[in-house]
Amino acid sequence: MSGINGWVLMTKDINHIHSYYSPNDLYNRIIDGLNEIGKELSKITLEDLHPVDEFHIRGTVATKELIQLSDFTSDMHILDVGCGVGGSTRRLAHETGCCVTGIDLSAEYIDAAQRLTHLLNMQERLSFYAASALDLPFEGNSFDGVWSIQVNMNVEDKLSWLKELYRVVKPKGRVVLYEVCANKNTPVYFPVPWAQDSSISFLVEPDLFREAITSAGFEVDVWHDKTDLAQKAFANMTKPVEDPELPELGVHLLVGNDILTKAYNLHRNLDEERVSLIEAVAVKP
Ligand SMILES: C[S@@+](CC[C@H](N)C(=O)[O-])C[C@H]1O[C@@H](n2cnc3c(N)ncnc32)[C@H](O)[C@@H]1O
Repeated sequence: MSGINGWVLMTKDINHIHSYYSPNDLYNRIIDGLNEIGKELSKITLEDLHPVDEFHIRGTVATKELIQLSDFTSDMHILDVGCGVGGSTRRLAHETGCCVTGIDLSAEYIDAAQRLTHLLNMQERLSFYAASALDLPFEGNSFDGVWSIQVNMNVEDKLSWLKELYRVVKPKGRVVLYEVCANKNTPVYFPVPWAQDSSISFLVEPDLFREAITSAGFEVDVWHDKTDLAQKAFANMTKPVEDPELPELGVHLLVGNDILTKAYNLHRNLDEERVSLIEAVAVKP
């Protein structure tokens, strides 16, 4: 993609993705949820926010596994690309003591990420900006490590995204990825948690994803297929009834009240080998 027409096309596509992840008044709706379940705002913990702020398969359990793989330490500054409302960003800073900058396409998510971080009094080590993963507002070699969790599904131009990660991470820096990929069967059932329909979902098979990582210049240090664990995590999903009752706090606040249909479709896509889940660490030589 090049020239003015290419730029217009990219902006239009990104707006389309942005609007999927732009709920109104998100922070206040999360606060309402916390109030409704009787949480005292001055005593909110990381755990209290988990139902809504870890928007990826296997939530906190997966985040903790990724932290183990990362080797990130307290003296480092890490970039979280596609941080959502910052649940795993805060968890990473909390567990390792490192500083983390989070960016996300959604201004609503970034607003919630900033305000939730203040609520937890973690603002000293965390900062958040609205930005695109395809055009990161940072100098080259700025970060000791990068992490990007379940973002690639919305990124059509995977090579440009990975080249941006490569550009901003320092030599020897580790880039932690935890991503939904295609699998041997098609088509994918929609809606799914990352897309209402196929227009903003760009899945490639794991082999092609790995090829894009190495084409961007990285060496692959860790490559784990976690599809079986994802299948187990969604094993009990059943077809939702119409107008189901939703909890006060949950990822429906992020992507809409059809979340159970989205989760049920994800379960079917995993079980029928239409999608897979890859955990990887890439290193900039
Ligand atoms: C499934 S959510 C995951 C959020 C977060 N990483 C987490 O695990 O809780 C996908 C996120 O990627 C963001 N995203 C998608 N495409 C993006 C892009 N081109 N640049 C920046 N963020 C993007 C979305 O706004 C959304 O917050």
